[in-house]
Amino acid sequence: MFRFKTLAFLVIVAALVLTACGGAKAPATQAPAAGGGAKCAPNCTFKDMTMCYPQLGAESDWRTANSASFKSEAEKDGFKLVFSDAQQHQENQISAIRTCIQQGVSVIALPPVVEDGWEAVLTEAKNAGIPVIIVDRSVSADKSLYAAHIGSDMVLEGERAAAEFNKKFPNGGAILELSGTTGSGAAVGRAKGFRNKLNANIKILDSQTGNFTRAEAVPVMQAFLQKYKAGTDFQGIFIHNDDMGLGAIEALKAAGVKPGDLFIVSVDGTRGGFQAMIDGWFQADVECNPLLGPQVAEMALKLMNGQSVDPEVLTNETVYYPDKAAEQIKDRQY
Ligand code: AHR
Repeated sequence: MFRFKTLAFLVIVAALVLTACGGAKAPATQAPAAGGGAKCAPNCTFKDMTMCYPQLGAESDWRTANSASFKSEAEKDGFKLVFSDAQQHQENQISAIRTCIQQGVSVIALPPVVEDGWEAVLTEAKNAGIPVIIVDRSVSADKSLYAAHIGSDMVLEGERAAAEFNKKFPNGGAILELSGTTGSGAAVGRAKGFRNKLNANIKILDSQTGNFTRAEAVPVMQAFLQKYKAGTDFQGIFIHNDDMGLGAIEALKAAGVKPGDLFIVSVDGTRGGFQAMIDGWFQADVECNPLLGPQVAEMALKLMNGQSVDPEVLTNETVYYPDKAAEQIKDRQY
């Protein structure tokens, strides 16, 4: 009898300890599907929409144009935009998203600064029934945690850049890479695509990040020039965005390098990039389109109305060259 009582007591204590430690888990609450429809569905209009846009920063002309695209779309359509600037810090983006969840926004459009580390906050948005559209760069989180991704094919952009070097250096050569923010979908994708397609006889001598900013690219280029002789040790540079390209030009000019001494391919197609082609510094500029506001707004409204959306929308882009740059710069919107 005593033994039975002791055993029963021990079983109860063990059960309590296991529960407290999470060993015996209660069934998980069923999370709502990403983009299950808002209260006003199926008749929601832009007047019902509050979109959260935790912008990743203001690091480039591309980014400025992207922010402007969302702000002007909100004004045009008449929806409320909760805009913030995370200054290239993921933790700032995460806390902005948490604030938006607390405010009960209708939709979150997230341009993620880096690919990894979004699972927890995306799960929180999903559990709150707020659909998330990943904008511009990609995330590594499971696709069930967000409704869709709208942006550029960064791998293709890198492949397009590689094709330019392959054309220019059929007999091989050595080049440098000035890469974007470490861990960002844009830098990871472009580097991957570049390596996918670059001919084996073209060597990437060195690759360093300039964090997608003009200011940070200058010392990186200066350090490259200390280590390698332009035109001798390397003949070209692949630069992951135009702002860094303009920083690199500053450093190259100061070191006495002339336009055309090196084969330079950049990414974005901003007015600054076009001017660099006109001035003879860039030999090609791979387009990356920042004007995503209209598409994202349209998709957000569909999600609010419980309609299905394409989970991956990639922007149609091209490559620009110096021969038409003077004409094309007149129509550039960014
Ligand atoms: O994610 C898009 C990239 O981010 C653009 O190429 C760059 O200019 C920006 O900072």
